[in-house]
Amino acid sequence: MTFDSALLEALRAAHHVVVFTGAGVSAESGIPTFRDCLSGLWERFDAASLATAEAFRADPPLVWGWYEWRRSVVHRAQPNPAHLAIAALADRVPRLTLITQNVDDLHERAGSRDVTHLHGQLEHPRCFKCQREPEALLPVPNEPAAGRRVQPPACAHCGGPLRPGVVWFGESLPINALNHAFQAAEDCELLISVGTSGVVYPAAEIPQVAWRAGATVLHINPSPGPLHGERDFALASTAGLALPALVGATFAKR
Ligand code: OAD
Repeated sequence: MTFDSALLEALRAAHHVVVFTGAGVSAESGIPTFRDCLSGLWERFDAASLATAEAFRADPPLVWGWYEWRRSVVHRAQPNPAHLAIAALADRVPRLTLITQNVDDLHERAGSRDVTHLHGQLEHPRCFKCQREPEALLPVPNEPAAGRRVQPPACAHCGGPLRPGVVWFGESLPINALNHAFQAAEDCELLISVGTSGVVYPAAEIPQVAWRAGATVLHINPSPGPLHGERDFALASTAGLALPALVGATFAKR
């Protein structure tokens, strides 16, 4: 894989690098991207119709069952070379901020610290009524619960149903995480956007904020979108191939 020398120089010179990831970074771990995951036993459902508070209110076991299936898929998955390369990059640059739209924990399991989750985390459910989080982690479903309805556990405090700890359509993103992400985008010299379709706002604005503030931006995606012009690069590749190659090429002994 060959890289533009201006891109490699920008990465070598950067004091603050932001890595912004979406579902594509976990695709090579076998986790279907958000828009692909309504397949198999779930294919008759539409994502937007499951990932909402209204859907949960109308049919808690249907929505909880879908998220339990996703949780079991994540639990059986392993971090891939892209997650590992991001963790390794953090040791090579003065400062790295990792912002993800993913609700899995593969960045953490690859060794990344201080991951900002803009869309919440599967492993942190909370009560639909009183918002409290359970004290212990929930057991992982033994068998993938694909297509099965599962009754959500009751909250130990108020008896309300637990809901997935993710941001649903129509809900606000966690304000501290969002502020942190936008500040990092304004501050960085290089932002690497990996495996995101860039269609879900406000997260999709983050690379644009960095570019407008003068940063170099690199998009890694097998189907990258249009570029703005100068300081905007794209690698039409999978994350698992491109990221280790990029880190290797940037920091290879010269
Ligand atoms: P999407 O499923 O919208 O997009 C995944 C992107 O990854 C696509 O652009 C693919 O081309 C790309 N892709 C696929 N395989 C890849 C690979 N191996 N390497 C690199 N890229 C690859 O996922 P997101 O952009 O993360 O929000 O979606 C954003 C948000 O939409 C999700 O967080 C979710 C959903 O609504 C909420 O749940 C709030």
